[in-house]
Parts: sequence; C-alpha cells; structure tokens
Amino acid sequence: MHSTINISANSQQYIDLEENYGAHNYHPLPVVLEKGEGVFVYDVDGKRYFDFLSGYSAVNQGHCHPKIIASLIEQAKKLTLTSRAFHSNLLGHYEKYITEYFGYDKVLPMNTGVEAVETALKLGRKWGYEVKGIEPNKAVIIVCEGNFHGRTTGVISFSSDPSAKNNFGPYTTGYVTIPHNDLLALEKALQDNNVAAFMFEPIQGEAGVVVPDEGYFAGVRNLCTEYNVLMIADEIQTGLARTGKMLACDHENVRPDVLILGKALSGGVLPVSAVLADNEIMLTIKPGEHGSTYGGNPLACAVAITALQVLKDENMMANAEAMGELLRSELKKLNSPFIDIVRGKGLLNAIVIKHSNPDAAWELCLALKENGLLAKPTHGDKIRFAPPLIITKEQIMECVAIINKSLQTL
Ligand SMILES: Cc1ncc(COP(=O)(O)O)c(C=O)c1O
Repeated sequence: MHSTINISANSQQYIDLEENYGAHNYHPLPVVLEKGEGVFVYDVDGKRYFDFLSGYSAVNQGHCHPKIIASLIEQAKKLTLTSRAFHSNLLGHYEKYITEYFGYDKVLPMNTGVEAVETALKLGRKWGYEVKGIEPNKAVIIVCEGNFHGRTTGVISFSSDPSAKNNFGPYTTGYVTIPHNDLLALEKALQDNNVAAFMFEPIQGEAGVVVPDEGYFAGVRNLCTEYNVLMIADEIQTGLARTGKMLACDHENVRPDVLILGKALSGGVLPVSAVLADNEIMLTIKPGEHGSTYGGNPLACAVAITALQVLKDENMMANAEAMGELLRSELKKLNSPFIDIVRGKGLLNAIVIKHSNPDAAWELCLALKENGLLAKPTHGDKIRFAPPLIITKEQIMECVAIINKSLQTL
C-alpha cells in the first residue's frame, strides 16, 4: 500500500487480522497501539507517539488518567450493571453531580454519542408536540450543512456527506438543513411554526474544525428564544474543556436548552453520554418511553463523576486555552507553503493543506507518524490537531518541531 512507510512485521500481523476479520468502516493509519499514558500512546514495538487525535476528543484528560482508572477499578469490583429495572446507589448521586455541574434540572444518561443525539431529537419532537403544540407528526428540526452527529439511520438522514448516506436509505424525514454559521438562514427557516428545535455543533469538528463567527452562539440563542424553538447543542466533541471553556457555548455565555455530551465524559474509558435539559423539556418523556440497558450503569456513573472532577481539579480549561493559542501561533510562524489555514479554538484545531498532490494530508500524517506524532486527515485536506488537554508548553514546542520536520517531506 504505502511502501515508503515502516510497518513492522509484528504490526502488519495485527493489521492483517483486522483486515481479514473486521468490517471496513474506518480507514486507520498503519500503526498498532498497545499502551497509552497521558499525552502519549505506544505501539506494539514500544515506539512512543504524541496523540494529536485523543480518540476524537474522548481522551481530553489524557490516556489512562490514574484517578479515572482508579474509579473504574474500584467500581468494577463492586457492581457494574443493574439495568434501569432497578435503582443503584450511584445513579442518583451521578445525576445530582452532573446536573449541578452544568446547571440543568435533569439528565438522561446514555452510552454512545449518537444515542444521546437521538435522545435529544426525540426530546425535541416530544416537546414540540406536547409543550409547543405542533400538530402530530409535523415537527421539523433544523440542522446544519456539513454536520456530523453520528451514524444511526436517523442521524445520517440529515447528513450532507454522501459517504455517510449512500445506499443506507430510505431516510427519515422532518429535517431542514441550513448552512453552518448563517443566522439569516436560521431566521428564515424559523418562519415555519412547525419547527421544534435547532440542533448544531458549536464548532463543526468532523467537517474540519469550522469555527463560526463571534456572536453566532448568542445569535442562535436569541433567535431560538424569539421563535420558541429549542436550542440543542451537540457538544460531544467541543464540550468538556476541549475549546478552552467547559462548553464551547460558554465562550459567549450562552446556555442551550438541550445539551448533548459524550466522548470525554468518561475520559476515553467507557462509552458514556448524556443529555441535559430542564424539567419542561425532560419531563415530556414518561417512564417506559425511552431507555437503554447500559445507560446510567454504576460503572459509567463512577467513571463520569471522576472524569468531570479532574477537568476542574487540573484546570484543563485554562491549559487548553493557553496551549491552543501557542500551538496556533507556532504553526502560523512555520510559514509553510503547504499550510493554507490554521484554525481552531482551545485545543480543537486543524490545518488545511494546500498541495498539488490530493493525498498530501494523508502523506503528511504518515510522515508525522514516522516522526512520533499521530494525527488523522478529515475530509481529504484537513488534519485535526487535538492533543489531550494536559499537554505542556515544552511538549507543544516538540510537536511543532515534529510537524515542521514532517512538512519538509511533502
Ligand atoms: C459532534 C459529534 N456528535 C456525535 C458524534 C457521535 O458520537 P459516537 O461516535 O460516540 O456515536 C460525534 C463523533 O465524532 C461527534 O463529533
């Protein structure tokens, strides 16, 4: 495949196993990892890499954070799953903790990100019918072009990425798509009285870290309030200190009506997601109307409490803000002819590659890997740089040197 790249015989065996027995739903870099610690991951040959993907921002707290792992182990020895058929001694405690942490009346715990998105969409529709008074089956939810909210048949129905949709139809109806970062388009779409909610990623992560204009979040908030429509923020990738604030919406002191969290809610340890909202919205779902066997399991509760606690205890928001500034300014200083754009907020960043070779971003990621840094292209020409939020100044400088050296190979 990529003959210039070193893949050890040992690594190749693991890659072949996956190729032979696993479905083809991702396109990974040829590196086989067996250990993670803080900002580093190690391959099966013991080679160390800076992790600049952080499990798509799930590992904000760093790999195998000792406090999160301690909570996991302690709870795993006691009780892991009750299902929601019975109560547990941890669920209520976790629910109180997370709702106070983010300032909402209630939480609905789920597992993966896309399940939380589906939950938020269901809530938006229920609220639309039962509180706003939309006629049965007429509810509309507005979404943004270039969105990424996950992979269920419902959620791909409003994806604008053909590769996410192709031959997975028929698609679910009830969605209207508008451009990202366009308040005029939002206001126009809100003229329809059947709109129940607007769901968006404050910064579009998978699309290549597309940061909207200043004032956009506040504008969305005002319009949603004015038109009596729920503002649903999918902060699965942007939340939990990643962009330098606890939530991306905090940059404009904006409070969404429905907040969706996932990924770093467990620090990359377990699939743990959550939807937060106030009673007027959350109580529209009655017992028996929604559920998940693992949602709110005691192991997840124990892990999530610690994962949230360490974000504050270790001041990860401030570090993300400062290290993000440093990373972007050092990348701009490189003045590379191959870097068209450097953008991002906090430690959610991307570079856009400019090169005659359409595979240049992939080739650069292979060179970065050789030089000890793991990153992954998104949408062809963009590379996300999103290390764990505990990265230090010295480490950022070392990484910029690696990036500089790797750019020379293009
Ligand atoms: C903004 C956003 N929403 C939803 C998801 C889906 O999360 P999961 O893969 O855990 O289902 C992702 C995953 O990348 C995401 O970035």
